Amino acid sequence: MDIVLSGIRSTGKLHLGNYFGALKNFVKMQHENRCFFFIADYHSLTTHPTPADLHGSVKQVFAEYLACGIDPEIATVFIQSDLPEVSELYLLLNMNAYVGELERTISFKDKVRLQPENVNAGLLTYPVLMAADIIIHKATKVPVGKDQEQNLEMTRKFAKRFNHMYKVDYFPEPTAYNFGETLVKIPGLDGSGKMGKSEGNAIYLTDDPTTIRKKVMKAITDSGPSKKNQEPSESIKNLFTIMEAVSEEETLNYFKDQYNNCTIRYGDFKKQLAEDTIRFTDPFRTKFEDIYSNSTYLRKLVTDGAEKARLSASQTLKDVREIMGFKAF
Ligand code: TYM
Repeated sequence: MDIVLSGIRSTGKLHLGNYFGALKNFVKMQHENRCFFFIADYHSLTTHPTPADLHGSVKQVFAEYLACGIDPEIATVFIQSDLPEVSELYLLLNMNAYVGELERTISFKDKVRLQPENVNAGLLTYPVLMAADIIIHKATKVPVGKDQEQNLEMTRKFAKRFNHMYKVDYFPEPTAYNFGETLVKIPGLDGSGKMGKSEGNAIYLTDDPTTIRKKVMKAITDSGPSKKNQEPSESIKNLFTIMEAVSEEETLNYFKDQYNNCTIRYGDFKKQLAEDTIRFTDPFRTKFEDIYSNSTYLRKLVTDGAEKARLSASQTLKDVREIMGFKAF
């Protein structure tokens, strides 16, 4: 049995990328493994949300991942900031993390480029906090999307370094996981890059049908194939990738054939994609509304989850302190 852990930042609503990158895998794994799922609300502070936004999105995301099928009876679901042990492990790991290696991570370099006015120390040490989240529960498998691959590499580095420095075999080395397949990257609707909250190119799981139709019909395309079996442009490839996730295989093949023999009409293609996305997200929307409106239920889950997660975290922290030399006289 593996220890599986995954998390999501509380920076707004969940989109299709979050679902196919992390949640879907986690839901599949929760029955056979010891599972933890949490909301990374500390990580979301790197973008400076207002207190009201922070509070609102933690509740939103918590209810959303329950609606996706994470079962709190089986998995331990909790909020990162409910575990003071994580902050302490983060502090301890920071002493053995080097500024040079943190500056070289792709996500840090991206942030420096995208938000030069807010290059805070939390962004630099983001992978250290993420490592603390993971190794505090001694997780071995971490269902995440492709964009988190390097953060998992850093986690392994910090775990290995700890074991090496203190001559112990204490932390396992966790891997980014997707059932032995390559990690998923769901693209956005704007013709380039991944679907993301800050990119403005996302379909959210709670979007209503009208919004989904509008977004998909506005998605970037091109002028159409001019010869048979032509390699599709980036924007068309992206729409096929989204279709592969939400539609039946038959539908996907039908439109791929149409593309290949130059008879595709992008209007019909997008209409089908919109309807399939609506069908796919529909059960989720209904469940979400039920769960979100039940504050008493959510409050109890958060309290129970924190208690269970702290049991596991406090044991690790106790061991780590002792290994490092923090002992009573
Ligand atoms: P966040 O909130 O950016 O993303 C949450 C999860 O969704 C996946 N994801 C995607 N997968 C495929 N295609 C996309 N377009 C796409 N967009 C997002 C991400 O890979 C991720 O799995 N650092 C994490 C939060 C975190 C965490 C952790 C995760 C903090 N500590 C410990 C796992 C373990 C993040 O940025 O999540």
